[in-house]
Amino acid sequence: MLKLAQIPSNRFIISTLASVLLMGCSPAITNVPNESQVLKSNVFSIDSVPPLKSLVDFPVGVAVPADPYAHSLLISSERQEVVETHFNSLTAENIMKMMFLQPEPNKFAFTHADALVEYAHQKNMIMHGHALVWHTQSPKWMNDYQGSKDDFKALLKNHISTVAGHFAGKLASWDVVNEAFLDDGTASNPTKYRETIWYNNIGPEYLEMAFRLAREADSEVDLYYNDYNLVNNDSKIDRVVKMLEDFQQRNVPIDGIGFQVHIDTDTPSIKNIKEAFSKVVKRGVKVRVSELDIAVNQSEQYSELTEEVSTLQRQRYAEVVDAYMDVVPEHLRGGITLWGISDSDSWIPGFRKRADWPLLFNEKFQNKPALVGMAEGLTGQTPNPKTVEFDWFEYQGMDEIFSEPMPEGQYQNPVISGFFPDPSITRKGDDYYIAVSSFAYNPGVPILHSRDLVNWKLVGHALTNQKQLDLRGNQVSQGVYAPTIRYHDGLFYMITTAVYGGGNFFVTAEDPAGEWSEPYWLPEIGGIDPDIFFDDDGKVYIAHNDAPVGEPLYEGHRAIWMWEYDLAAKKVIKDSGRVIVNGGVDLAKQPIWIEAPHIYKIDGWYYLMCAEGGTADQHSEVVFRAKNINDPFIPYSGNPILTQRDLADDRINPITTAGHADLVQTPQGDWWAIFLATRAYDQRFYNTGRESFLLPVTWNNGWPHILEQGKAIPHRLPKPAINNSLDIDEKQTGNFIWRDEFDGQKLNVNWNTLRSFYSGWYELADGKMNITPAPIDLTSLKQPVFLSRRQQHMTYQVTTGLALPQSTDISAGLVAFQNEFYHYYLGVKKIGDGKFQLFLERTKDKNASEPRKIIKQVEISAKNDQQLVLEISGDKADISFAYQIADGEKITLAANLDGKILSTAIAQGFVGTMLGIHSRIESTDK
Ligand code: XIL
Repeated sequence: MLKLAQIPSNRFIISTLASVLLMGCSPAITNVPNESQVLKSNVFSIDSVPPLKSLVDFPVGVAVPADPYAHSLLISSERQEVVETHFNSLTAENIMKMMFLQPEPNKFAFTHADALVEYAHQKNMIMHGHALVWHTQSPKWMNDYQGSKDDFKALLKNHISTVAGHFAGKLASWDVVNEAFLDDGTASNPTKYRETIWYNNIGPEYLEMAFRLAREADSEVDLYYNDYNLVNNDSKIDRVVKMLEDFQQRNVPIDGIGFQVHIDTDTPSIKNIKEAFSKVVKRGVKVRVSELDIAVNQSEQYSELTEEVSTLQRQRYAEVVDAYMDVVPEHLRGGITLWGISDSDSWIPGFRKRADWPLLFNEKFQNKPALVGMAEGLTGQTPNPKTVEFDWFEYQGMDEIFSEPMPEGQYQNPVISGFFPDPSITRKGDDYYIAVSSFAYNPGVPILHSRDLVNWKLVGHALTNQKQLDLRGNQVSQGVYAPTIRYHDGLFYMITTAVYGGGNFFVTAEDPAGEWSEPYWLPEIGGIDPDIFFDDDGKVYIAHNDAPVGEPLYEGHRAIWMWEYDLAAKKVIKDSGRVIVNGGVDLAKQPIWIEAPHIYKIDGWYYLMCAEGGTADQHSEVVFRAKNINDPFIPYSGNPILTQRDLADDRINPITTAGHADLVQTPQGDWWAIFLATRAYDQRFYNTGRESFLLPVTWNNGWPHILEQGKAIPHRLPKPAINNSLDIDEKQTGNFIWRDEFDGQKLNVNWNTLRSFYSGWYELADGKMNITPAPIDLTSLKQPVFLSRRQQHMTYQVTTGLALPQSTDISAGLVAFQNEFYHYYLGVKKIGDGKFQLFLERTKDKNASEPRKIIKQVEISAKNDQQLVLEISGDKADISFAYQIADGEKITLAANLDGKILSTAIAQGFVGTMLGIHSRIESTDK
């Protein structure tokens, strides 16, 4: 009989020559790892990756299709070649599941499984059995079975004893029970067992029964509990470990936990994976990565596997395997099994209904970079084992206009400077809250708090997790558009649009600083800029911008729509949508981009305020009203009630693009408007994005006025008559210095990342910001390793102190970023011992014909432990770059370069320039 044994060094070997093996030597065995073969220090090239199994002393396996599948390994020579080269452990992907082995009551079908086991043994591979008990892929008769608890116990016993008995001595291990827990435990059912026929009819003791029966049938085989989401769901791994501890205490046989690890390139973090493995390691049982695959198209943005994504996948394979090697000690390594041979074999496309390429070999069975990553992980050569350490970051704003002493009783416009666009405001008691748009930056929708309307504190964000907001694959100016924030009946509402991320939705919170709820999606409502209005009769209305009825009459022809919303049922009332403004104030004049509606009821009138003219130089705010909400909204004859479009171009310190306003009333009864505008240099350029301004509202014959026509928005004016204030440690306007020593427990609220909420690449520890680079540069639509804050001044300086990167294939540094196509990166990388290259890279072309162009570089010498300070300083159209090593002199690398590429006029879009720290893997072919 074929026999399997494990020799004391824990190197597993199988052979038909059991007796030889048991003596501890292995002359006849091929492909057994040999220390000299283990290429620990080698760099792998894609065409010559050594057999994976030769790199480590634990099983490296793969799940395979077998007979009767058409692509069965047993009849596919190309699959055999890959399998026999790289793997020494096999799992039947399907044919040892319950429905295959016992297709009819008490009729067992072992022919195909036996053939696979036989093949494995002939090729000196071990076999893992998958799975004795599972809730899916069990035969229909079993699912339909009716009987008493004892009947079910007998059924379970018969299956396990027969199957495990049949394969006794032939398998290295079994998944005894697969997927017995649900993802979330609840207060009422903290263990949250999955309700399978076994659980429902036998109770939780079916688990223990299964393990005991398996042990009885095969005294040698390793017994595993196997499940998914154990590396990214703390509650689930904790429940599994609880079961394990209980088994251990009561001597229920169990040898290890199988982690399926069906993951993707975004989540979970390596930290999470390691924590999950360690929980099992602590219990002294084996850890098996039983079903590894790493999906890349989770955001469904790719129709083919790009080079960038391949590289990312390689990195991820290396890191995951590295995490396993790092946390699981040799004697507890049950092995790693890939869930499929080639991408064309993978279950992911069918299961997730999308294209994907999660495995190590492509559909032609050729090596993928992922295979290199796997080899790197197995040999401890993960390309970026090091992180980059940033010690501090400082931003200083020095605008001339802000530097004049502030006269007593006045306030500064903008009240919130930098990229805080499309503001919406609400009041609860004495507290005012503003929500602004955030496009593809995370967290989404900054929330600012004030008690006097002029000093604002950034207190949090409305959208703080991936469930609320998925912006993966979005361009910087896609993502979250203009929000409306309202306080109603004890609850705050924030309604907005995730363009390309699910459309319109709202979230609610008791405290606007967070947590906000999960989204209530509004699939009936198209377009952008939703407003939510609570009428005093209890009805709720959602107004928004969308296409007009029928074909648009001209470019920019839009309409404002309004729907009734059933708040109790959380449903848009069917067919209630109607156009309340077609085109704008006067359709005959072909007004463009009517948008940003807000509805108010004031003194018995329904007012509708909208932006008109587009968010650039023709921007304005207009108002309409109706006595009855179902009546037509009549435009005000004095429109626009706010604009700067008719002022002279050559005015000094111009404030431009004003519009997109929202009103708030103080408890004293005064009305104020918050709106967006920009501070331009050279007449029409601004890098600071659209900022939030405040002006008093006056009423004229029942119509609100924000600013007299032809008047320039004042930079300073008398404060609102409010005798209240808030402690604000981090100002959002005026000149200030903002410094992060990175000594907080969590990321300061001013920091942002792009697109995804994945945060595994940064960590605050011991007063440092540790960044793990990724092979993603700033032109990518994935999530680059980039932490940024807003450029809030025309004249600013930003500096950071970092430890010199200690690896030649990574870079790190400081970035001024407007979008994927327009940015500067001042980076440093190691080129030799004590030698570093400092480079300035510029991307400035919408068509990406000139991406990542190095425009300046110098070689510098520094001791490895010296700190490097990098500096970017901007002054309107100019941008300069400098550096300093330890206490040395500050040296200018490049002065007065073109800063206009960071302006909205050149770069386009709706955001402002962000300044921050970045790191990336420089060369991917090493
Ligand atoms: C999958 C197989 O890969 C598919 O071919 C089949 O159609 C469904 O099952 N967790 C498990 C595996 O434990 O058995 C599953 O395999 C994937 C998820």
